Amino acid sequence: MTDQSQAVNDGVPSEHTDIPTAARRRASKTKHPAARPPARDDIPNFDYLRSIIQRHLLLLAPTARTRPQRVHSAIRYSLLAPGKRIRPMLSMLTAYGAGRFDTAAMDAGCAVELVHTASLVLDDLPSMDDAEYRRGQLCAHRRFGESTAILSSIAMLNRAFGLLSSIEGVDYRTRNRLVTALAGVVGSAGLVAGQERDLNERNADLNLSEVDSLNRLKTGVLFVASVQFGGLVAGLDDEDLGRLQAFGELFGLAFQTADDIVDVQGALSTAGKDVKQDGAKPTVVALAGVDTARRRAGEQLQEAREVLADCSFDTAPLAALVADFERRSLR
Ligand code: IPE
Ligand code: IPE
Ligand code: MG
Ligand code: MG
Ligand code: MG
Repeated sequence: MTDQSQAVNDGVPSEHTDIPTAARRRASKTKHPAARPPARDDIPNFDYLRSIIQRHLLLLAPTARTRPQRVHSAIRYSLLAPGKRIRPMLSMLTAYGAGRFDTAAMDAGCAVELVHTASLVLDDLPSMDDAEYRRGQLCAHRRFGESTAILSSIAMLNRAFGLLSSIEGVDYRTRNRLVTALAGVVGSAGLVAGQERDLNERNADLNLSEVDSLNRLKTGVLFVASVQFGGLVAGLDDEDLGRLQAFGELFGLAFQTADDIVDVQGALSTAGKDVKQDGAKPTVVALAGVDTARRRAGEQLQEAREVLADCSFDTAPLAALVADFERRSLR
């Protein structure tokens, strides 16, 4: 099996590592302890999946030798750093369950990972969450400066659209649907709206269902895109795509809640990013406390599983990922 930390180091020069290497290795081990074998032996091993996603991102990333070198270095720095890759995994596992496991599914998932990474670079800026660390290293703006970080984010966003529009092995209608869907996901009715509300609405002004709707925009949209893009590439019909929307929203809500619990209970050494930053943020944890937040997230995952049971394709690979996430992040 490929060692993920090795693949990661291929793309990120060691001088970019700002948390001591040993701590970083420990952090990545804590996040990805040896995967238990999935219940069914025909489901792709998750460590293997992460390693092939990492290799694909390496192929998609611009070389740091071509101009503008600084922006390209910043893209490689953020994109190839050790993220959990849950979004491309969702795309690949959806497509796999629907009968397709190839470069087209990988491109679709990596387009979402590009958008996600771009959103993290912006999320960390001083004018937004003002973070110091991300993915076990200094944030892009602290390593390269704000202007380069912003430009690298714009470049990653555009790379994602370019990738979807030229995806091979799918017809032009499907490509068109992917590009149109991504435009909706990123825009002011999606991620941008969620981030704007996250920054400018205090938790005291919101109730739980309003926080859920904010989290659906901020985080859910990319989870929905991840599974739907895998489904679109694999040719699923609109009914299944609708069920995947519900599944992605529920998983996204539970995921954001788990992330908000990490902010309260986690540490930089294991999370690889700043913690104890969300005190005034509109989160489920701030509103309802850790215990209620954890219970709600468990219920959302249970609902997500029920949605999967209604799908007409094989959803066992997705269900295995839900179980893996729940075991690592909510117990
Ligand atoms: C962080 O996402 C932002 C949230 C939506 C909570 P991830 O936890 O997936 O971050 P990486 O990709 O592993 O760095
Ligand atoms: C960010 O949520 C979600 C995005 C759209 C980037 P957070 O602000 O909680 O993510 P982290 O904790 O910085 O990763
Ligand atoms: Mg934020
Ligand atoms: Mg943040
Ligand atoms: Mg967070």
